[in-house]
Amino acid sequence: MNAAGAEPAGTEGGARGARGGARGAGVAAVRVRALRRSYGEVVALDGVDLAFGAGTFTAVMGPSGSGKSTLLQCAAGLDRPSGGTVRVDGVELAGLSERRLTLLRRERIGFVFQAFNLLPALTAAQNVALPLRLARRRPSRAAVRESLARVGLAERAGHRPDQLSGGQQQRVALARALITRPAVLFGDEPTGALDTTTIREVLCLLRELVDREGQTTVMVTHDPVAASYADRVVFLVDGRVSGELARPSAEGVAAHMAGLESAAAGAGDDAVVGGVTC
Ligand SMILES: Nc1ncnc2c1ncn2[C@@H]1O[C@H](COP(=O)(O)OP(=O)(O)OP(=O)(O)O)[C@@H](O)[C@H]1O
Ligand SMILES: [Mg+2]
Repeated sequence: MNAAGAEPAGTEGGARGARGGARGAGVAAVRVRALRRSYGEVVALDGVDLAFGAGTFTAVMGPSGSGKSTLLQCAAGLDRPSGGTVRVDGVELAGLSERRLTLLRRERIGFVFQAFNLLPALTAAQNVALPLRLARRRPSRAAVRESLARVGLAERAGHRPDQLSGGQQQRVALARALITRPAVLFGDEPTGALDTTTIREVLCLLRELVDREGQTTVMVTHDPVAASYADRVVFLVDGRVSGELARPSAEGVAAHMAGLESAAAGAGDDAVVGGVTC
């Protein structure tokens, strides 16, 4: 046990689908080892070892500045680490040329951010088709429709972002991230800009994609309720993994975060399964 009361982070395989999401448990979709990233004097990641099992849903939490976004950026090949290794879908990123890295990012990695980053002049369908167009692949109407259907927006294909609610816009961003059927979906605070009802809508969708399709998902969040939708929560402090909770409840996560933030011992009961219903 560490000071905040959680077991040390497991490094292999990740949590086994607390709600039936795990497929190929033990197979890591993403694995980082001894991952380091410095920006001048600032050490953002200080030796992180983690594996995200295929078909699992992981939340990454920690105080502001603890390295969460840096971890995701490095794991997604958007940033080059200063040391250590990143393996995505069995491919070591360090050995790749810029061109191959770009291709792997496009094909095997999906990313959604707090800002939806949709192009305002394009319809939902055109936004979703964008990654394929960038890859010089001709997006089939059926593939775009299917991707929108997966996020429950088949009927909104012709709408522009300003004709959609925040939650719907984030779902379009998800459909765009998922159109290539990536090995892993990363979300950096994907519900950070949404209101309470819409947050739930997006989290239920993420959970459903894991359960229904085995979509490996890694999500940074500050919200214990959001984290309780995941199979496990990994906590970062000062660029290191400080612990993790399996089958997190919102209360357990909140207590753990409070423990981290006050550096006091005694986190909540991590054995309680969160009662989220979608
Ligand atoms: N491009 C950069 N240049 C310099 N320092 C950076 C850069 N990116 C991140 N950092 C620093 O690295 C550390 C980790 O940043 P990171 O953005 O990963 O934190 P975070 O956990 O995502 O925080 P938040 O919860 O506020 O989003 C911070 O000290 C930050 O200031
Ligand atoms: Mg961040």
